[in-house]
Amino acid sequence: MSKKITIAIDGFSSTGKSTIAKLLAKKYNYIYVDTGAMYRAVTLFANKNNYVGVDFLRKENLVSQLPNISLQFKFNKDLGFAEMYLNGDNVEKEIRTLEVSQLVSKIAAISEVRKKLVAEQQLMGKDGGVVMDGRDIGTVVFPDADLKLFMTASADKRALRRYKELIERGDNVDYNDILFNVQERDRVDSTRKDSPLVKADDAIEIDNSDMGINEQFELICNLIDKKLVEL
Ligand code: DC
Repeated sequence: MSKKITIAIDGFSSTGKSTIAKLLAKKYNYIYVDTGAMYRAVTLFANKNNYVGVDFLRKENLVSQLPNISLQFKFNKDLGFAEMYLNGDNVEKEIRTLEVSQLVSKIAAISEVRKKLVAEQQLMGKDGGVVMDGRDIGTVVFPDADLKLFMTASADKRALRRYKELIERGDNVDYNDILFNVQERDRVDSTRKDSPLVKADDAIEIDNSDMGINEQFELICNLIDKKLVEL
């Protein structure tokens, strides 16, 4: 049971991937990498520099600045998880706004951005003992991951979860805007040319539309424990 495995969790937006990944990382004492936070941080950088907006994308400007974008996860003991830092600043809250959610799929479709982030993710997970969540972890980042999960849920359930999260944070958002954003991101993320969101052939699909967090956690822990015994 001493081997540390690589766990890839992919799936649609707002399927609770990060909630479950954080719990798993804590239980198994693994590193947790939220790759969506990295795409969100690059989007925030692009937005602040006026490289992206609702109706424009200055791709070449952003690509030329990629070497100047430094991303770091720093563990926050009080919160119990790592927060995202962009060029030294804590951007954990800023990257979760609806504005960033509305722009991130455009940025995530840029191959140069993906190349940079995938290389960083592979480095972070190279020694195993990692739970990584995203869209292309089991297909591109770690195609040989020991355990691959693919999370799905109905769009309205996902939008409602996201809506509640943002309202609890104090954001003033409309449910229909969130639902539209969830569906639009699914569409763009699944149809982009570079590393589209697809289920890896060997991934286990979990539809959590009607599952609570405890039920999912138990199910996935059983899968991990089985894997650890096999290895
Ligand atoms: O997981 P999230 O919703 O925070 O991700 C934000 C966006 O980043 C998502 O719409 C697609 C993109 N993304 C990606 O293309 N590849 C990943 N590995 C992770 C996220």
